[in-house]
Amino acid sequence: MQHDGKIAVVTGAAQGIGLACAEKLHAEGAKVVMGDVQGDKVAEAAAALDASGATAIGMACDVSSQAEINALAAKATDTFGRLDIMVNNAGLGVAATVLEITEEDFDRIIGINLKGTLFGSQAAARVMVEQENGGAIVNMSSAQALLAIPNSVPYGISKAGINQLTRIFAVSLADKNVRCNAVGPGTINTDMARNAVLSSDAAYRMILSRTPLGRLGEASEVASVVSFLASDEASYVTGQVIYPDGGRQPVNYVMPVPEELPEL
Ligand SMILES: NC(=O)c1ccc[n+]([C@@H]2O[C@H](COP(=O)([O-])OP(=O)(O)OC[C@H]3O[C@@H](n4cnc5c(N)ncnc54)[C@H](O)[C@@H]3O)[C@@H](O)[C@H]2O)c1
Repeated sequence: MQHDGKIAVVTGAAQGIGLACAEKLHAEGAKVVMGDVQGDKVAEAAAALDASGATAIGMACDVSSQAEINALAAKATDTFGRLDIMVNNAGLGVAATVLEITEEDFDRIIGINLKGTLFGSQAAARVMVEQENGGAIVNMSSAQALLAIPNSVPYGISKAGINQLTRIFAVSLADKNVRCNAVGPGTINTDMARNAVLSSDAAYRMILSRTPLGRLGEASEVASVVSFLASDEASYVTGQVIYPDGGRQPVNYVMPVPEELPEL
């Protein structure tokens, strides 16, 4: 299997895309350390992968704390001896327009999404540069890194920042055999999307009108891109962002939406 012998850390792994990434990497042979601010839930998720704890560990971790993200990376090296794959997935949005956004909300979202990704990448990189085979970092960006939504101010800014930090890490660490890439999903069928943007048929229609493939993505369809970027199959890929977004990036104007909306 493509991740046999690899040690992976995934943040925000209690549910949604992070859980799908941990499941995929584990299914492909990696041992996984799963971090999440929902400590009990991530411990249960890890136990569902391997109740013995020999190949999957869940750990409480708030990625907005550098000390906690360092501890998560240390869990991988202390337990398994190395860290080959770091997936900085934990993220959060808040509805806020340019006229409303508060300092508190800005600091909170930037702290989790951008600072968490930066120090997660740093913690992993500090281990990877000392390893013979380097490693691979994959950051969770968003279609919103490129496309603007008016009521999503700190989120979009945080994801644009993730794209640039991905390029900076890639260029900084290339000579140490550490690759750094990002994945920028469109609208994916998880709690985050269901709570935030699928609150009404009108909101759902608006999403589909910008989605040529005509449906939301599934978390597993993001995880497969993460797994590819983390694998040796992507050995010549660094500093890139891949968008599993159902074709949203190239759309100008809107797509037709069927009268009957696809079930979620
Ligand atoms: N669902 C989408 O449509 C979509 C689209 C583009 C990008 N993304 C990104 O994908 C990632 C995962 O989102 P999801 O859709 O699975 O959402 P989700 O809400 O289902 O899962 C997010 C997970 O992150 C955890 N988390 C939140 N704050 C944390 C913190 N401070 N420290 C550690 N863990 C924390 C949550 O507990 C949860 O388990 C996020 O970075 C999100 O921005 C999602």
